Amino acid sequence: MPESTDDSLDPLDLPLARAAAILREATSLFVLTGAGVSAESGVPTFREAQTGHWARFDPETLASPRGFARNPGLVWGWYMSRLETVERALPNAGHLSLARLEPRFGQRFALFTQNVDDLHERAGSRRVSHLHGSLAAYRCRDCEAPHILRPEDRSAASPPACPLCGGRIRPGVVWFGEMLPTGLFEEAERLARTSEACLVAGTSGVVRPAADLPFIAERAGRPVIEVNPQPTPITDVATVFLPGQGGEVLPRLLQRLDEAR
Ligand code: OAD
Repeated sequence: MPESTDDSLDPLDLPLARAAAILREATSLFVLTGAGVSAESGVPTFREAQTGHWARFDPETLASPRGFARNPGLVWGWYMSRLETVERALPNAGHLSLARLEPRFGQRFALFTQNVDDLHERAGSRRVSHLHGSLAAYRCRDCEAPHILRPEDRSAASPPACPLCGGRIRPGVVWFGEMLPTGLFEEAERLARTSEACLVAGTSGVVRPAADLPFIAERAGRPVIEVNPQPTPITDVATVFLPGQGGEVLPRLLQRLDEAR
């Protein structure tokens, strides 16, 4: 007799049930997201072959203080084009699911993103912190005064001059070799350690110190749920790995949680 096969078996069923059970039991949640959660909104990731920024461009040239000093016009143009992409993009089902998850935990919810887009906020997430800064924020490289982007700045061949000191305006993002915003990583570290569960979505888990956060949660004995189409270094310590795209897996996770109400 041939071995029976059951087409109705979904490989995500069991991990989704385990992840939903973790979220149901937890009264606080720490979430870490990366570029993958915005991929389905049409915002390129960094490390994916062919489509990732770093597959096509050199990070030292485009995302470091030295690169900016060497070729400010090139760096400015790249950030203005990324800003345009993000402004045209819409939150996807993954962002929307994370926003729907937040009220379950109220003030005991924290979402830390490595993304410089505002798609979490536009999806309705409220407690969002940007570990790597934001494409919507600009400041003077020299005197640090904030700068509101003017329409003419967007098409300029070089960064605008600071009206206060004449220095160069730069994007308010964290570049390679720079520190994260003061106190923000410490806050993330504390919440990763003390929140009762950790959910990680769409990050390759290779850029420190952000990549340390799921490991900090795991060492503190917190269950870690990971959503990613590919395994990452985080998968080794994940309590549950949910293979798949954020826009598909996260809505299913929410559905599971809703069903159990
Ligand atoms: P990466 O580009 O390194 O990794 C993106 C991850 O998302 C990969 O693990 C993909 O498998 C996964 N992915 C792709 N599509 C997905 C989808 N639809 N749903 C869920 N996951 C998906 O991006 P980050 O980990 O965010 O830093 O990169 C971290 C930092 O490196 C960035 O913040 C940036 C970059 O250099 C700075 O610019 C300082």
